[in-house]
Amino acid sequence: MKNSNKEKTILLVDDEEDIRDVLGISLSDIGYNVHAVENGEEAILLFKKINPEIVLTDIKMPGMDGIELLRKIKHESPDTEVIMITGHGDMNLAIKSLKYEATDFITKPINVDALEIALKRANDRMVMKHKLREYTESLEELLQEKTELQDRLSSLGLMIGSISHGIKGLLTGLDGSTYILDSGLKKNDPEMIDEGWEAVKITIQRIRKMIQNILFYTKKRDIHREPVNILYFVNDVASFVEPKMKENSIDFIKNFNSSAKEFEVDTNAFRSALINILENAVDACIKDKLKKEHHIEFSVKQDRRYILFEISDTGIGMDDDTAAKIFTLFFSSKGDKGTGLGLFIAGNIIEQHHGTIKVNSTLNKGTKFSIRIPRIAGKTAIERPTSNVQR
Ligand SMILES: Nc1ncnc2c1ncn2[C@@H]1O[C@H](COP(=O)(O)OP(=O)(O)OP(=O)(O)O)[C@@H](O)[C@H]1O
Ligand SMILES: [Mg+2]
Repeated sequence: MKNSNKEKTILLVDDEEDIRDVLGISLSDIGYNVHAVENGEEAILLFKKINPEIVLTDIKMPGMDGIELLRKIKHESPDTEVIMITGHGDMNLAIKSLKYEATDFITKPINVDALEIALKRANDRMVMKHKLREYTESLEELLQEKTELQDRLSSLGLMIGSISHGIKGLLTGLDGSTYILDSGLKKNDPEMIDEGWEAVKITIQRIRKMIQNILFYTKKRDIHREPVNILYFVNDVASFVEPKMKENSIDFIKNFNSSAKEFEVDTNAFRSALINILENAVDACIKDKLKKEHHIEFSVKQDRRYILFEISDTGIGMDDDTAAKIFTLFFSSKGDKGTGLGLFIAGNIIEQHHGTIKVNSTLNKGTKFSIRIPRIAGKTAIERPTSNVQR
């Protein structure tokens, strides 16, 4: 056993100097780092300083006795092992000390073998407690992993459900369009052929968008920001949605008076986020039958550190209930025409750019999305948005 306890510290408490000396030598010999004091009060003071793994204390001492010291130490540090030294006839006290969670007791005159057995017991208990703590920690980690896995599985289940539902809708659309196309071909009616073919193309477009969304969501890819010309970027984004606006006689107001030349962005990711918001604006205008004319305004502004994109529409708007849910995975009010992935993904992309997105919407009036991202990568947007909906 020699030297095996080199790093362990023992606090030895006994009012008899001889015992302190003899035990001190034996314990050092076994390999402990020994600190000896003659009473409970000193023991408490030193205990706080050296925080020993083991305390070896006499039960009967003038002033604070061993039991009181044991209780104080256990209160302060429940994991410290406390071994009691008892005299003949102290059996009741010894039993009482066990009630207060003493590790063991040895009787005077002290036999080295008995001391070693008590110390071994203390060491075993320490190892056991350590192992128990480790097991508990890994159990907690396992539980955490299990919960995450369950969440992921149930969101995967939801996703599969939603995708199947979406695909079913798209297939119904495809059936309808091919029927028109077939009839057109049979009747040799060019107008009907055009109509059917247009409908097929729109459905293909929808399938493509859905697949892109799913791929983005499942890959959870990292973003790579690169310097991009702002005007070039916003014009590019606008060109994607402009045809659909023209088709539906929605006025498109572009307000690109940014003086900044470049900003750092993951072009593909951020473009798809803005396109989705603009497409939502188009859908909202198409759905609104109250107003005769609609317009969508797309603007980009900047200050020294941030770029602010604003997309406002005069569409159907949202009530508070809807507005609170729009960033939720799979939330969509568009039935078969929407996957509900658009804003969920857009929100994530903006977050990955350390940006913020806020929404102001009034039912039957319109909606405004404001997206703010730091111009340069790595600069976090400090200011939090204050509107009703935010990320
Ligand atoms: N500009 C807007 N005006 C009114 N409602 C909106 C607007 N933008 C979003 N919403 C609401 O938020 C919902 C979620 O939008 P999101 O883009 O996530 O999904 P989606 O457009 O329904 O489907 P997807 O984008 O996957 O095709 C929409 O279904 C709609 O109810
Ligand atoms: Mg959308």
